Amino acid sequence: MTKSFYITTPIYYVNDVPHIGHAYTTVAADALARYKRLCGYDVFFLTGTDEHGQKVEKAALAAGVAPQQFVDSIVERFRELCTALEASNDDFIRTTEERHKSAATHLWAAIEKSGDIYLGEYEDWYCTPCENFLTEGQLVDMKCPDCGREVERLKEQSYFFALSKYGERLKAHIEANPGFISPKTKRNEVLSFLSEGLRDLSVSRTTFTWGVPVPGDEKHIMYVWIEALTNYLTAAGYPDERYLRYWGESDSEGEHEVVHVIGKDILRFHSVFWPAFLMSAGVPLPTRVFAHGWWTVDGAKMSKSTGNVVDPFEVIKEYGVDQFRYFLLREVRFGLDGDFSIPALVRRTNSELANDLGNLLSRTVSMIEKYCEGIIPAAPAKEELRDELEGPLYALFGTLATDVDECMEKFDPYEALVKIWERVREVNAYIEKTAPWKLAKAEDAALATVLYTLADTLRLFGLFTSPFMPGSAQGIWTQLGITSRVEQSDLKREGSLGAVDISGLKVAKGAPLFPRIDEPSVEPV
Ligand code: ME8
Repeated sequence: MTKSFYITTPIYYVNDVPHIGHAYTTVAADALARYKRLCGYDVFFLTGTDEHGQKVEKAALAAGVAPQQFVDSIVERFRELCTALEASNDDFIRTTEERHKSAATHLWAAIEKSGDIYLGEYEDWYCTPCENFLTEGQLVDMKCPDCGREVERLKEQSYFFALSKYGERLKAHIEANPGFISPKTKRNEVLSFLSEGLRDLSVSRTTFTWGVPVPGDEKHIMYVWIEALTNYLTAAGYPDERYLRYWGESDSEGEHEVVHVIGKDILRFHSVFWPAFLMSAGVPLPTRVFAHGWWTVDGAKMSKSTGNVVDPFEVIKEYGVDQFRYFLLREVRFGLDGDFSIPALVRRTNSELANDLGNLLSRTVSMIEKYCEGIIPAAPAKEELRDELEGPLYALFGTLATDVDECMEKFDPYEALVKIWERVREVNAYIEKTAPWKLAKAEDAALATVLYTLADTLRLFGLFTSPFMPGSAQGIWTQLGITSRVEQSDLKREGSLGAVDISGLKVAKGAPLFPRIDEPSVEPV
């Protein structure tokens, strides 16, 4: 039976520079994608950019360039972010690509065919200088929130999607599939929103041209959300049948998971509008929508005007990509809001990465160099494992794979890291208990058992941390003398102590994996 796992980030708006919010979603989705690959799934990980709409058109106008030229220049920064974060995305979609325009046009036509699109009139407040429709809630003192000028009541012809028809079906789907929206609090929010009843949705505009035209009525441009959401189908290959490789309904021949990782602000689009569009078009629904929380910075809301926007490139340059990835995933449980600060990142790096894991590696490699001429000794036979020392350690590692799996199945990378670090601390305690330097002095044969066990636990730390910190995980393996690529491993087969024989490998001490950061000298970025 084939098992596929399709995971997406939102496509990012190109009218802004990449910030910590973009980095966060990408890192979290990347960790999940990498984990599923280690478990043997056929994984497809998608990210990309959202390039149409009035805001982009305006930004291009302000910059004095054509919209296409404008987006072409900015998209590069988002591609660079993927590289800098070491994201393993299989595709990078841009909504200005032909394949996307074609998919969006197809999906629109499929929805129209089902009778869910009709022409009507959209009425709201309008700011003429900004050419922008605004709802009453967006107005500030009944004036435009952007330019502060008077607004007027205006009507525009618009196509509507019959969203109101889908309320009951959506509710039934969410109730029948408890894992469809997570975390639970967000699921409850959506259910309560649905219980208020749904209004039909305006899905086209005539006030700008930068977008995908409505098929058959080209003065209308598709509302940016209906078009943008389609990106997930485009990249799978829609409307070509091949999109079902990742987007098919699970049956006896295959299991297909489609997961949208998003920020909590765009939950309604993904868990109400998007499934309703798909229901209407007769396309299977995604299996999960996971809404993560938001980061504040030094306790304050991140905003351009306060100038506290965290530039992920700066953080990576200054503190290292894996330090940043680890912090994002370990600082707050996925789904909750968190606070980003450099002192907190430095603290975690120093205590959990440098002290707990980095030191363990360098001590182990040094001892193998000193006492065994740099060669990992022979693996201990079962009877050489001592009940009071290796016994409990082997037992603890025996449940590592299932512990981590349970967490990752729940999309809880935070807890997965907690579980891994419980073992890291236990191995450090094992060094203290066994005191290999004393065994060496006494020429005790147990030295080989201890050093082999230490090296083997580090092999597993490389394997299990690789979804979160791929470069450092490979670094652990390199120092142990393992030459294969950690991401090509099979977690189920190799994920326990003794599963792979690493005796005879030549260790090679390298630079510290996570250099300690001097706390007082750190300036906020
Ligand atoms: O919403 N902390 O794009 P976007 C955490 N183009 N996440 C944050 C954040 C913060 N402080 N600020 C923003 C869009 N985000 C649309 C998506 S999908 C078909 C279209 C998150 O660039 C935000 O929640 O404005 C969202 O998930 C993501 O960054 C992209 O936001």
